[in-house]
Amino acid sequence: MNLKIAVLPGDGIGPEIIKQGVDVIDAIAEKFGHKIEYQEAICGAHAIDLVGDPFPDDTFNICKWADAVLFAAVGDPRFDNDPRAKVRPEQGLLAMRKKLGLFANVRPVQTFECLLHKSPLKDEIIKNADFICIRELTGGMYFGEKYQDDEKAYDTNSYTRPEVERILRVAYQYAIKRKHHVTVVDKANVLASSRLWRQVAKEIEKEYPDVITDYMFVDNASMRMIVEPTFFDVIVTENTFGDILTDEGSCISGSMGLLPSASTGEGTPVFEPVHGSWPQAAGKNIANPLAQILSVAMLFEYFGLKDEGLLIRKAVDASLDANVRTPEIQVEGGEFYGTREVGEWIVDYINKA
Ligand code: IPM
Ligand code: MN
Repeated sequence: MNLKIAVLPGDGIGPEIIKQGVDVIDAIAEKFGHKIEYQEAICGAHAIDLVGDPFPDDTFNICKWADAVLFAAVGDPRFDNDPRAKVRPEQGLLAMRKKLGLFANVRPVQTFECLLHKSPLKDEIIKNADFICIRELTGGMYFGEKYQDDEKAYDTNSYTRPEVERILRVAYQYAIKRKHHVTVVDKANVLASSRLWRQVAKEIEKEYPDVITDYMFVDNASMRMIVEPTFFDVIVTENTFGDILTDEGSCISGSMGLLPSASTGEGTPVFEPVHGSWPQAAGKNIANPLAQILSVAMLFEYFGLKDEGLLIRKAVDASLDANVRTPEIQVEGGEFYGTREVGEWIVDYINKA
């Protein structure tokens, strides 16, 4: 297959982890005979520094040219501490999602047998947890009308029926390939937007009689995820709730550095880790590249290249089993493996497979 891939390293640890992702793509392409064409593009704080825009038109054009975007992370503390900053790195990511029409963000949460003890939760609770969160990505408070002055500020959480319908359908499509169970997470006891979600979901659920649908308030869902994560199969929820719940989900896997995601919809799909730019770790070769590498697996799988995805997953499992792990998940006393070393080990495994 010929694939054109836009590579967007962004900020912080972004350039380090994306390098490992690209090396994995190259190794897979070599093994399976695919031809990959890359274009690199700037975004986030890095792009603000260079051209004053976190998602410049040149970058947008490269994304449109590509069949897939491999994205790392954006964010920089210089902007976090300035409530009056007019332009922020995160706007680059949001603009990319919006302009490419990527309304469906798929975030799988799974456990790795050998990492169960790295989770703050008890082994017996998280064992066999395996669910996906379908996060609506281009609506809600992130994109609703906003206002801010020194005395008052608001963000509007607005959704339209078509926006809700299409994301629910994505969730059901996943559910029929999985365990036939959808949990619609909302706050319908308080929010009007959630009541629309629930109303639409009650209609759509009838079209999928083989799927069990249940409804859960987000506060309850966040608790259930911790006390009984195996309850879930497919969670579908609005933008903000999905953002929060998936960070919580990383506690089940054992590290924020393990969660990949795929953002899909109308335009070029984007494959990106769930985690952020971790600026404190930038340049230190300690960030976990697995979320990025597993995003690469999702990229191949998106194009129907199952064996390619599977080999990447096997390589990741093998690296974890061999304790080739970045410091936050390492078994104590092991040899040091940094971002680069973990990536190289995985590439090596793929080459030898
Ligand atoms: C994520 C991130 C982003 C979000 C930020 C960086 C804007 O936290 O992808 O989950 O809130 O969507
Ligand atoms: Mn987030």
